[in-house]
Amino acid sequence: MKDGKTIILGIESSCDETSAAVVADGRTVLSDIISSQIEIHKAYGGVVPEIASRHHLNNINTVVDQALEQAETTINEVDAVGVTYGPGLVGALLIGLATAKAIALCKRIPLVGVHHIHGHISANYIQYPSLEPPFMALVVSGGHTNIVNVTDYNQCEVLGATRDDAVGEAFDKVARVLGLGYPGGPKIDRIAKKGNPDAVPFKRVYLGRDSLEFSFSGIKTGVLNYVHHEQQLGREIHVPDVAASFQQAVLDVLVDKTMAAVQRYARDTLVVAGGVAANSRLRQMLQQRCDAAGIRLCVPAPVLCTDNAAMIGCAAYYKYIAGDTDDLSLDAVAGLTL
Ligand code: KG4
Ligand code: ZN
Repeated sequence: MKDGKTIILGIESSCDETSAAVVADGRTVLSDIISSQIEIHKAYGGVVPEIASRHHLNNINTVVDQALEQAETTINEVDAVGVTYGPGLVGALLIGLATAKAIALCKRIPLVGVHHIHGHISANYIQYPSLEPPFMALVVSGGHTNIVNVTDYNQCEVLGATRDDAVGEAFDKVARVLGLGYPGGPKIDRIAKKGNPDAVPFKRVYLGRDSLEFSFSGIKTGVLNYVHHEQQLGREIHVPDVAASFQQAVLDVLVDKTMAAVQRYARDTLVVAGGVAANSRLRQMLQQRCDAAGIRLCVPAPVLCTDNAAMIGCAAYYKYIAGDTDDLSLDAVAGLTL
């Protein structure tokens, strides 16, 4: 406890960000230190799991120390440690989990395992202090594309998921095809602003009228085929047009299905989470549709959209006050489901 508030130390290491945060009463971020490995993995065009684990190991203690220092909090004031235990890269997850367990054991405080996606959704509680469940959530990241019906702080139901590639993965793969580099999402977002979204009619994959599932592997192949075809004909590729057309095709499906779920469950609030929530065109399209339908739209600031430990600390707080804590046998689960 600090100033009468419950203090959670959050730890996140599921992919290529080593992060630790101190969160008071679930909603106030006292610190959120994020050590990104993007520059290291860039050379390989994607995250190399073994390299990610090693960097987490090198960085984790410093990141935790910095988080406490910046929050002007001592380890003795921490009430519980919240940590991502899946889904993610197993070797990467283990570093954060082992650190959290060591702190919980030494300081005799509870350990709270957090589902990474639950963390992403919870980023919205930080951004919007008045936000409370129930609401509909769209989770879009490098590993996930889910429409989630959030019924309470610790309760939710996945209504639809991707059958193949996650939306962020599709952005990253198409960016590679277009020679834009890694990570592709922000690059496509930027260059698409200079392109015509109607230039190339990429197929929109809806998988049936009422389906809330997604499939993005086809459009990746579609872009690849388009590029090869144009090259064979000796025509130059207009990268901004291809990027804008790809982005629009993906977002049309994403937005339509999300709004269908909001309507079907008569929700008055839509929350967006995950790295792709930083996409400017997605934000713009959802805002237009939500305004027209009288729905409140919540999208966290970009720094809270990509992987960070503040969102994990927030999710852990609500589990902690509900008495939902874990013991030291908690294991990392690479393919953890919601
Ligand atoms: O949530 P996140 O940081 O990590 C995972 O849990 O996957 O999401 C990373 C993903 C990457 O695929 C990245 O390309 C994508 O989010 N991303 C974006 C944007 N910023 C990040 N995609 C589209 N537009 C953006 N502005
Ligand atoms: Zn993530």
